[in-house]
Amino acid sequence: MARSEATIRPAVHADLKAVADIYAHYVRHTVTTFDETPRPVAGWEQRLDDLTALGLPFLVADESGTVTGFAYAAPWRPRPAYLGTVEDTVYVAPDATGRGLGSALLGQLITATAEAGKRRMIAVIADSGSDASAALHRRFGFTDVGLLTAVGHKHGRWIDTLLMQRALPASKAA
Ligand SMILES: CC(C)(COP(=O)(O)OP(=O)(O)OC[C@H]1O[C@@H](n2cnc3c(N)ncnc32)[C@H](O)[C@@H]1OP(=O)(O)O)[C@@H](O)C(=O)NCCC(=O)NCCS
Repeated sequence: MARSEATIRPAVHADLKAVADIYAHYVRHTVTTFDETPRPVAGWEQRLDDLTALGLPFLVADESGTVTGFAYAAPWRPRPAYLGTVEDTVYVAPDATGRGLGSALLGQLITATAEAGKRRMIAVIADSGSDASAALHRRFGFTDVGLLTAVGHKHGRWIDTLLMQRALPASKAA
């Protein structure tokens, strides 16, 4: 399929029904997320508001008015010493994968997170067999830093998580 002509832009509340629908697919049908119950739109509104209050980006891919993917950076750990470290999340609608949206989202998320003054980005990739996610992150310079074995249990099997990390470019704001 053709490469995407999506606009990557900050999310607004009106986008969050589409965000919830995309995430619900992966909750129900995959082990990509360890959530087992889809998050209601109100939960996404809270997440967007919380990240905005922290100065962290929450982006969507907008294709002619349809939200086909999203990405955000969230605090890695609550303790203050971890202030410079975030975990990224990237999801693309199942019928929109493989045409560059994940790359467009992650590329702009890295830029926006660096501009927010953050120094390190961590990816927690459930199921080391999740090739698309690992490939996406490797493409953006993430390296493997550890494999947690059998730390999750979903859909009747034990699941590893692969930890990947990259430095963020220094920002004037840092
Ligand atoms: C991971 C995900 C975001 C990728 O989105 P996408 O729009 O398909 O990504 P792109 O089209 O930009 O492709 C990114 C890279 O992944 C590779 N890739 C895509 N699908 C793949 C697959 N099934 N197997 C192996 N590699 C794959 C592409 O080849 C590309 O690498 P390249 O440019 O070096 O060739 C999408 O599959 C998704 O939403 N998965 C579920 C959620 C998830 O795992 N999120 C990441 C963890 S937070």
